[in-house]
Amino acid sequence: MSKVTVVGAGNVGATVANVLAHKDIVNEIVLLDIVGDLARGKALDSWQQAPIDYYSTKISGTSDYKDTKNSDIVVITAGIPRKPGMSRDDLISTNANIVVSVVKSIMEHSKNPIIIVVSNPLDVMTYAAFKAAGLPANKVFGMAGVLDTARYRAFLATELSVSPKDIQAVLMGGHGDTMVPLPRYTTVAGIPVTEMVAKAKLDAIVERTKSGGGELVKLMGTSAWYAPECSCCSNG
Ligand code: NAI
Ligand code: 2OP
Repeated sequence: MSKVTVVGAGNVGATVANVLAHKDIVNEIVLLDIVGDLARGKALDSWQQAPIDYYSTKISGTSDYKDTKNSDIVVITAGIPRKPGMSRDDLISTNANIVVSVVKSIMEHSKNPIIIVVSNPLDVMTYAAFKAAGLPANKVFGMAGVLDTARYRAFLATELSVSPKDIQAVLMGGHGDTMVPLPRYTTVAGIPVTEMVAKAKLDAIVERTKSGGGELVKLMGTSAWYAPECSCCSNG
């Protein structure tokens, strides 16, 4: 038995709810947004895919935290995204207020959930969520280590014309300028990447990874959602 609440029914939140429902691995998903009809509409649309794509996960939308009662996992995507020219840190004051109020409301209805934070700036929002929730540290996560490592692996796969599945990589640090992709600990089917890609090219891939989110903001006018979604709920 498992219940997942996704807070924020925008690009990331609605995608998390929809893709997770398709995996058919949880009983119930509640999609909550301050704009209740948006959440209700997206959840209803998603539920109407179930007979075609053949899943049973029940999905509903709401703006009422009572509907999140006894959630096992809560994914927080509420907040504003970046526009071109903005850094993640430009979002801090708006999103900190949103994330703290969301977490407090969640904790009124669920005793011991796992919380996965997506809202930016990710590392600061995760700490704010941890403080507001009063949960043990191992119950409150940010998801961006998975995302940033995936971007690094994807860029390497393009460079080497291999499957991303064959690239194993380690990336540490925060979700932003402080992230540290580690070529020394990156291999391609077991072969060190430093033996396969020239240093200058590797340095360029490391730099591209660090600004991977910004590259997508420039292209789309808002931030990404497909890879952020699966960084929250991939079982791969
Ligand atoms: P979006 O604008 O598409 O959706 C945000 C949703 O949050 C909106 O539907 C809005 O109504 C809702 N919302 C705002 N205040 C709320 C509140 N108090 N309670 C409930 N819902 C509320 O934005 P998108 O693209 O989904 O991004 C959401 C957040 O996630 C942004 O802060 C963005 O920067 C961040 N993000 C983080 C990533 C990461 O790797 N950590 C990747 C992609 C986005
Ligand atoms: C990203 O890296 C916006 O932080 C988000 O796509």
